[in-house]
Amino acid sequence: MSRADTDLISRVEESYDKLLALCAHLEGFADALPDAIDRQECLIMSRALGPMVHRIQEFEEQQVFPVLLAWQAIKPEMTETIDRLKIEHQLDSCYAEDVQDMLRGLGEGRPTLSPDAAGFMLRGFFEAMRRHVAFEQQFLVPLLQLALRRLPASVGAN
Ligand SMILES: [Fe+2]
Repeated sequence: MSRADTDLISRVEESYDKLLALCAHLEGFADALPDAIDRQECLIMSRALGPMVHRIQEFEEQQVFPVLLAWQAIKPEMTETIDRLKIEHQLDSCYAEDVQDMLRGLGEGRPTLSPDAAGFMLRGFFEAMRRHVAFEQQFLVPLLQLALRRLPASVGAN
């Protein structure tokens, strides 16, 4: 595996670590509701959440998914799986916007939702995100490693 391939795997693993840290952070907010919430942290997160999720999704879609789709032997099943993951990205991205708005309201001291509803929204978001990341870690990363090893032969055969 080339240096570039190893770097790609490292970047993928780092991006999952970042998303899981984000989930832990959001879980902290949910646990702190309603009285122990740190308004400054809510404001910081309300600005960082969407761009961070978007950046990682874009990286996966532009640099990871194409490698898997280029491996012809797994392409039929992979196409369907990757389409599903892209839909999950879109849903997570929309959900992240709602969470951002809710956190901005909390940070500015004018909550848009009841504490229960805000906690429900946070948990819905980070639980879905953890499931998505777990699937990609367990299923995509091993396939990505295999694809990177096989890709030159597979590309050469086309
Ligand atoms: Fe993803």
